[in-house]
Amino acid sequence: PRFVILISGQGSNMQAIVQACQSGACNAEVAAVIASRAETSGMVWAAGQGIETIGLAHTAYPSRDAFDESLAASIDLFDPDYVLLAGFMRVLTPRFVERYAGRLINIHPSLLPAFPGLHTHAQALATGVQAHGCTVHFVTPVLDHGPIIAQGVVPVLCDDTPETLAARVLSMEHTIYPQVACWLAQGRVHLTSDQRVQIDGVT
Ligand code: GRF
Repeated sequence: PRFVILISGQGSNMQAIVQACQSGACNAEVAAVIASRAETSGMVWAAGQGIETIGLAHTAYPSRDAFDESLAASIDLFDPDYVLLAGFMRVLTPRFVERYAGRLINIHPSLLPAFPGLHTHAQALATGVQAHGCTVHFVTPVLDHGPIIAQGVVPVLCDDTPETLAARVLSMEHTIYPQVACWLAQGRVHLTSDQRVQIDGVT
């Protein structure tokens, strides 16, 4: 199977997935890394791994639709089985999401449905939750929603700051996203008719 990974910045989740594919832990090929900016450190790293990279400066487009059209055209050059959003900081139009329905995946740094949107770690600390984490889910037109594929849970510690909590969650992201990528590559992840996720071989 072939993945295209979309990033906006450092792309540490992308790097974890690329490394899982290179080590053979995940039987898939990362055909391209596409960024929502002309240049990002994640693109430089991916290019160093011999992966095709495309930088689309969203600021260069007159509308969200125009950006999404260019993004879709870039993605379709590689004909991927799955499109993985990894630290991708753009809201995608419903038309784009529908185009990739069932094969568009995202990771969000909270235990959805808790804390959608930004600043999830500050939200978690402000709310006083004792468990926090990250969620890998199918993307639907509703932001930070969509059928949940996997979640990773981390404790909130009494002296946590948004930064220390973010680092603990990010480390967990680097565990569960490659795990999901491996399941996707094995063709084990299915969306049921009632929009639930079924993973073959996982009871
Ligand atoms: C991080 O905040 C992560 O929690 C979220 O996106 C941001 C950047 O991730 N998924 P990455 O290092 O670019 O993968």
